[in-house]
Amino acid sequence: MKIDEILNQSPVVPVIVIDQLEQAVPLAQALVDGGLSVLEVTLRTDVAMQAIHEISQAVTGAIVGVGTVTRPEQFQQSIEAGARFAVSPGLTDTLLAASRTVDLPFLPGVFSPSEVMRAHEHGFKALKLFPAQQAGGIGMLKAMHGPLPEMKFCPTGGIGAENFIDFLKLPNVACVGGSWVCPSSAVQGQDWDQISQLASDVRSALQ
Ligand code: 3PG
Repeated sequence: MKIDEILNQSPVVPVIVIDQLEQAVPLAQALVDGGLSVLEVTLRTDVAMQAIHEISQAVTGAIVGVGTVTRPEQFQQSIEAGARFAVSPGLTDTLLAASRTVDLPFLPGVFSPSEVMRAHEHGFKALKLFPAQQAGGIGMLKAMHGPLPEMKFCPTGGIGAENFIDFLKLPNVACVGGSWVCPSSAVQGQDWDQISQLASDVRSALQ
């Protein structure tokens, strides 16, 4: 699948931080059971790559990707771990060059119209707007749709249950990312039912 096809699989992409490896599979399973199958596991902890590997092996129906990619070698490492896509908070020349050497759908981050235009010049039509609220949120996305109508976004950062639907109503929003469906309190407490419920609440809100 291309990155836009992956983003179209789910209205919300949970942004996941895994501290304990044994949390990975039950957390991912809870999200998939609740109806959210596209998962971004951030490379912010020592066990993140191994977590991606275990989820890719054990959770049927999950489309697990790697998030917080900031170094070129992480693309190949992520492929070997089983990641199906990669997300970065920004787009550097180094990351751009590295992304060209691998067969892994890539969602780079942008924060400004110039960054959107630069990414477009390099062939990207789907981008992560990050951090979305600080970049201007809904107002910014509406403003960018006029001059840059061909671009689609996955805004991430500061989005929650109270406002995700407002983002999804915008014509240039493919999906939104966020951690509210997997709060650290529930993960640490291994409250997988709560996480399934939060994912299921997303689906219910969209019906
Ligand atoms: C992050 O930086 O962890 C992601 O952008 C998610 O942000 P959020 O916690 O505001 O959803």
